[in-house]
Amino acid sequence: TETGSLSIVVLGASGDLAKKKTFPALFNLYRQGFLHPDEVCILGYARTKISNDELRNRIRGYLPHGKGASNDQAEDVSKFLQLIKYVSGSYDSEEGFRSLDKEISAHELLKHTAVGSSRRLFYFALPPSVYPSVCKMIKNCCMNECMIRLHRGLDALALWTPRGSDIGADRGGWTRIVVEKPFGKDLESAEQLSTQIGELFDEPQIYRIDHYLGKELVQNLLVLRFANRFFLPLWNRDNIDNVQIVFREDFGTEGRGGYFDQYGIIRDIIQNHLLQVLCLVAMEKPVSLKPEHIRDEKVKVLQSVIPLKDEEVVLGQYDGYTEDPTVPDNSNTPTFATMVLRIHNERWEGVPFILKAGKALNSRKAEIRVQFKDVPGDIFRCQKQSRNEFVIRLQPSEAMYMKLTVKQPGLEMSTIQSELDLSYGQRYQGVPIPEAYERLILDTIRGDQQHFVRRDELKAAWEIFTPLLHRIDRGEVKSVSYKPGSRGPVEADQLLERAGYVQTHGY
Ligand code: BG6
Repeated sequence: TETGSLSIVVLGASGDLAKKKTFPALFNLYRQGFLHPDEVCILGYARTKISNDELRNRIRGYLPHGKGASNDQAEDVSKFLQLIKYVSGSYDSEEGFRSLDKEISAHELLKHTAVGSSRRLFYFALPPSVYPSVCKMIKNCCMNECMIRLHRGLDALALWTPRGSDIGADRGGWTRIVVEKPFGKDLESAEQLSTQIGELFDEPQIYRIDHYLGKELVQNLLVLRFANRFFLPLWNRDNIDNVQIVFREDFGTEGRGGYFDQYGIIRDIIQNHLLQVLCLVAMEKPVSLKPEHIRDEKVKVLQSVIPLKDEEVVLGQYDGYTEDPTVPDNSNTPTFATMVLRIHNERWEGVPFILKAGKALNSRKAEIRVQFKDVPGDIFRCQKQSRNEFVIRLQPSEAMYMKLTVKQPGLEMSTIQSELDLSYGQRYQGVPIPEAYERLILDTIRGDQQHFVRRDELKAAWEIFTPLLHRIDRGEVKSVSYKPGSRGPVEADQLLERAGYVQTHGY
């Protein structure tokens, strides 16, 4: 009998991202039964000449194994590794990609894949410089239309497919590519890359991954905002004073200095991860949950952001950053940035959205802080420091809490600030929270683009930052220094204060 088959190709299989994120995510999907051995094969592809077993051993180190792993887990690891094969080749030679196609086709034949129902997923765990050539190679050598060739020989009619379309889409077949950031370095390079890839693949085949969109509490944002009567009337400039979206890491560039120095914190974190979160916090209610409806609203937010002002940007670089031998001594690349984004629309006019990201700080944390305005005509003489604040902690220890003013328990009529607290670890004890990559890879298999970045969204995101980035690259905007393990430059706290943020009590 004919069945479907699913071939997952991990390009850049011996690299860091593949080992640390992609393969472990595939393993978790396998364990939960989403990747069935009757259908699936996983193919690693990279330049290094190694055997199947060598790749498997490299991956094994990143999966639960050895001490602490249960027997079940160890057995699952072995079975999972057996699904993986390796093909070596360069990223710009047809030869390598033809061998890859041969492997995929052999798998499809083995699984008696029906004509038109082969599914091929190509995951780019690669530097973006090779994206165009890899896309070309896939298009020339590895599209699922090859199945048709195998079944029918070289029948000209059978080979004809409209450009980039999925042959057999009506029978469940497809070819999809998943591309990682950094997607370009500025507006122009990103648009050029989009055009090059767009000539080969259609938008529904392209999954631009931003792993922050796969985080549990980021996925929760739309539910929170649009399924709760509490928030609907409050979520606007009349009630909200300022919004902060913060990313901190307590380690530096650690061995990634060479990569990082070319990009810096704005391209690495703010232009993608934090901006995506901002979109979900600020967007209007979409017509429905269809990916296009959601992404339409996100684009509108991005297009409403007005140009950044120099006095609302603080850049920092931690002391010792340039000691990394792969970083030039005179590097001006920021490892820290705080900036105020302003959205020019009816809902948000006048509300600062403060984006803050930094490496080598005093803690590792990502959170959203929505700070409300003071209560007008206050009769309790509350301090300014008792403003209402709604905090969504994305990591670590997912939580949401609402800071509010209550009567201090006791005989006196005085107020204190307290919290309504929903900590996931307590409330959903024992419920595993999936890894971002796990969820997003499953989406690519299911064909759901809701949590992926559309081309126009990417363009609008680059438009916001490109002028500033160019000025930083030219050395016209300088980074100030800060001590590793600190809160970052004091100038950033001063900017926060100027933007209206008030440090509240507690938590
Ligand atoms: C990546 C950045 O996209 O995100 C890294 O390139 C950063 O610099 C990482 O460390 C942070 O991801 P997470 O999920 O650990 O917050």
